[in-house]
Amino acid sequence: SDVIGTAVDFVLFGALGDLSQRKLYPALYQLDREGLLDDDTRLLGVARYELDDDGFRGKVEAALKQHVKSAELDRAAVKRFLARFTYCRLDFSTPEGYQAIRDWRQAGSVRPMVVYLAVGANLYGDICRHLEASGSLDERSRVVVEKPIGHDLVSSGEVNDAIGAVFPESRIYRIDHYLGKETVQNLIALRFANPLFGTQWNQNHISHVEITVAEKVGIEGRWGYFDQAGQLRDMVQNHLLQLVCLIAMDPPANLDADAIRDEKVKVLKALKPFTDDMLGRDVVRGQYIAGTADGASVPGYLEEEGANTESHTETFVAMKTGVANWRWAGVPFYLRTGKRLPEKLSQIIIHFRQQPHYIFDPDQRALAANKLVIRLQPEEGIALEVLTKDSGLDKGMRLRRGPLHLDFNSAFPKSRIPDAYERLLLEVMKGQQYLFVRRDEVEHAWRWCDSLIDAWQDRDEAPRRYPAGSWGPVASIAMITQDGRSWYEDY
Ligand code: BG6
Repeated sequence: SDVIGTAVDFVLFGALGDLSQRKLYPALYQLDREGLLDDDTRLLGVARYELDDDGFRGKVEAALKQHVKSAELDRAAVKRFLARFTYCRLDFSTPEGYQAIRDWRQAGSVRPMVVYLAVGANLYGDICRHLEASGSLDERSRVVVEKPIGHDLVSSGEVNDAIGAVFPESRIYRIDHYLGKETVQNLIALRFANPLFGTQWNQNHISHVEITVAEKVGIEGRWGYFDQAGQLRDMVQNHLLQLVCLIAMDPPANLDADAIRDEKVKVLKALKPFTDDMLGRDVVRGQYIAGTADGASVPGYLEEEGANTESHTETFVAMKTGVANWRWAGVPFYLRTGKRLPEKLSQIIIHFRQQPHYIFDPDQRALAANKLVIRLQPEEGIALEVLTKDSGLDKGMRLRRGPLHLDFNSAFPKSRIPDAYERLLLEVMKGQQYLFVRRDEVEHAWRWCDSLIDAWQDRDEAPRRYPAGSWGPVASIAMITQDGRSWYEDY
């Protein structure tokens, strides 16, 4: 079963932080509840605050109550889960105190240790060094790190060097939580298990690809962090480029982590470079102004708590790019992502080419192409849009488009769709790296984004405004309509 051989000593730095409470405890709890945490797995929470074990368990329990559906909070399961925890108070940046981690390990058996760094990247290096110096690590210890890994190629190199001085690449797990989403993994099954798609997946048959990752939320009290980053660094450098990789990569020779990641790196290397003339035309930066969300008025980006009034940071970006290789030559990839859009919606649309010769009603010509709609959220599912005859005696040979639809909720009614972190944590415990990002992926993604950021900085233009609750700046619509296309809308 999945559980065999996955017993670990799990050490969580930043155990009282936001990520731990919102994502990691709920995910670990769900794994435990489903019988996927080995009986021998133990958890050590590490943070700066003075607390005893019971006080800490109380915090974990509170986090579960807040972030897990009450129907899924089973008393016995919660009790068993909490009993796995020990707490350790530590000042991360000084070597003193790390002995406690070694002692905690030695008191138990010889399970591999998983160190999860749910803290700022500026601390990664110190923590790794102190862990090593205190004798807490051995040749099976793994480390899990979160984005952002640096804010450009150079700084990401420094962070990766610091981790790499202690852990070899084969034991570093860089999280991009989009890779843990069920439908994202399904891209691999869809493309490489279905001959129907396998044979069509190239510029002969696909006219363009569209990826939308729309968020309804604004900045959510993270203005300070976000303003240094912007939507390109926060979402495109990682999540959207990972989606591009999975869509565009060549078939790997097998499902090994490096076979998959080698193919993804080739895509990143082949991304179309930015040129000056693309900036106004094929790349649109936006920033939201006051508007509405769920019918209520909400402030603009520059009026959010903690904001300054000058910032040119983008909260929206749309771009037309491509993958310059044999498979994808001439196929535009339209990407867009933004905060404060009308809904939370992530989807990928593969637009197939039209038939070479069209014989139906000329007015319906624009309809006549298949689309594969891959919905990541909110309702995960895959639909293939096909054309059929409109039914009814009076309709003649009028066409109608309709979906062949795989809706995961109804196709697998009993199965709960797990959160991305559940899958990722399970893979770390199993020692499987294929859902994690390799160093060269991070670096190629940065190299490409840096070239755009540099060009933006040279120009120092204000982003285009869009009202909260709209689909972004008008220019982002023009960007695609100038090619005679439009962003996909459900019907
Ligand atoms: C995070 C970003 O990586 O992804 C956030 O830092 C963003 O700004 C989030 O809101 C979106 O994730 P999801 O899973 O809600 O689409």
